[in-house]
Amino acid sequence: TSPLRLGIAGLGTVGVGVVRIVRQQAKMLTTRAGRPIEIVAVSARTRDKDRGVNLSHYDWEDDPVALAKRDDVDVFVELMGGSDGPAKAATEAALAAGKDVVTANKAMLAHHGQALAELAESKGCNLRYEAAVAGGIPVIKALMEGLAGNEMTRVMGVMNGTCNYILTRMQNAGLTYEEAFAEADGLGYLEADPNLDVGGIDAGHKLAILSALAFGTRTNFDAVELEGIGAITIDDITQAADMGYRIKLLGVAQMTGRGLEQRMSPCLVPASSPLGQLEGGTNMVVLEGDAVEQIVLRGPGAGEGPTASAVMGDVMDIARGLRLPVFGQPAETLADARAANSTVP
Ligand code: NAP
Ligand code: HSE
Repeated sequence: TSPLRLGIAGLGTVGVGVVRIVRQQAKMLTTRAGRPIEIVAVSARTRDKDRGVNLSHYDWEDDPVALAKRDDVDVFVELMGGSDGPAKAATEAALAAGKDVVTANKAMLAHHGQALAELAESKGCNLRYEAAVAGGIPVIKALMEGLAGNEMTRVMGVMNGTCNYILTRMQNAGLTYEEAFAEADGLGYLEADPNLDVGGIDAGHKLAILSALAFGTRTNFDAVELEGIGAITIDDITQAADMGYRIKLLGVAQMTGRGLEQRMSPCLVPASSPLGQLEGGTNMVVLEGDAVEQIVLRGPGAGEGPTASAVMGDVMDIARGLRLPVFGQPAETLADARAANSTVP
């Protein structure tokens, strides 16, 4: 059987993790997919950089767009990041050339999800993004497949490991915000622009993606009411603890009589609740639907292994021939989230 040939753009935390899995688990992946998974070419900004993995077997492309269009690439794996720029240009080029795309890029999807979904579906291509939301937790698969028979009523959760880590360390170790931030940085949790994390933007991107899937709306990041954790002090955390609460950066998306509400903001949650007990870089997503009632997914939301695990889940689906609409239903049928959204004072 013919191999599935990958072109990987971005060889940072996640890209290197994907290379490691493809190399170290080649036999297992081949058995499970029924065909070999091969990397044919890679791209990053700097060619001469020790990344801790052997890349000498793969062709090098300076230009990710050129990589995306290569005839010998079946799946373009976008792991560069950034809502626009090379990530978007290369993703569009790959889809326009009829190639499947796997990405971890929540910023790109939150801002351009609708246009990219329309392009992918017009070309009969997959655009898969499990790694974009909650790292290693298969929440996209849960909504797209396992819960497809439900009318979803609410999606909520802690979706940014950096913020949860910072708040937990302030709570448990009495660290200052700056000390806790430095620790999170050392663990590789942070986005290239940390304000995406602490400003709640990264988590807002993830909520916009989950809303599209859960409620059949177009991704609309502008409709997410956003507040980050930058103003939270140790005093706030201590006062909350005295009353039996924890402060969490919590995302909530739900359909109400007034339309779709999407909020990402610091919230008080009971200390004894599963969300209150969620510590460190761990994420938790709570999914509620009319038939299933409620399920809770918990796991690592960031880092090399967990995020690469999610990327590979998408790659394996494609290797097995699975083809799904990008947001669970044809892109042309997705409702306008802005029109559905109403801001509650
Ligand atoms: P990263 O460590 O900063 O790596 C980014 C990679 O992209 C680097 O290899 C960089 O090249 C390359 N790159 C950047 N701009 C480029 C350009 N113009 N042309 C070619 N290559 C370029 O980022 P990451 O943490 O792996 O994240 C990658 C994606 O996964 C992002 O969308 C991020 O939001 C998402 N994600 C990350 C995590 C996580 O835990 N890290 C979790 C979930 C999702 P150089 O190495 O040469 O600089
Ligand atoms: N910076 C993100 C976080 C990475 O801390 O959750 C995973 O998306």
